Amino acid sequence: MTTTIRDARPEDEAAWRALWQGYTTFYASDIPEPVTHHTWQRALNPDSPLGIRLAVCNEQIAGFSLYVLHEGSWVTTPVCYLEDLFVDPAARGQGLGRALIDDLIHLAEQNNWSQLYWHTREGNSARALYDTFIQADDYVRYRLAIPRG
Ligand SMILES: CC(C)(COP(=O)(O)OP(=O)(O)OC[C@H]1O[C@@H](n2cnc3c(N)ncnc32)[C@H](O)[C@@H]1OP(=O)(O)O)[C@@H](O)C(=O)NCCC(=O)NCCS
Repeated sequence: MTTTIRDARPEDEAAWRALWQGYTTFYASDIPEPVTHHTWQRALNPDSPLGIRLAVCNEQIAGFSLYVLHEGSWVTTPVCYLEDLFVDPAARGQGLGRALIDDLIHLAEQNNWSQLYWHTREGNSARALYDTFIQADDYVRYRLAIPRG
């Protein structure tokens, strides 16, 4: 099996959208089309802090990570937030999820980012994978939706 992790390109849109659909279904979410469109456009824009990395396995796009870079008050170089991670169910258990996280660690080292972090549901079985990188800390999340004015 040959696996490559690389940036998303315009011609990958249909394949990424199929994975994105699987991911949002996994989270029982219905992301409006304009949001998906905007997300994809930002991922292709080198000036945007949002990026998508694709796992290409035997020439098939089988997984993705979506990350956002941001400033941090405790550091001098960008912080990387891994917002979304998904592997096609047919391609799971072959190391692609781990490869996608390793890839971001490698990018962080190359680009002098100071930190990589992510959230997940407390009961997500993916924590078996995550726990092999680092133990979860004891922070909890407060998330306030802002009503449209
Ligand atoms: C989480 C996810 C990306 C892992 O992808 P994957 O390609 O199957 O992961 P890997 O093959 O690299 O797994 C590496 C190790 O972690 C374990 N692991 C990975 N995901 C697991 C899961 N959901 N449950 C239990 N163990 C898991 C694997 O068994 C493997 O263990 P091993 O090295 O001892 O064999 C994939 O299961 C997925 O897309 N899940 C649905 C979406 C999701 O939960 N995304 C994360 C949201 S925060």
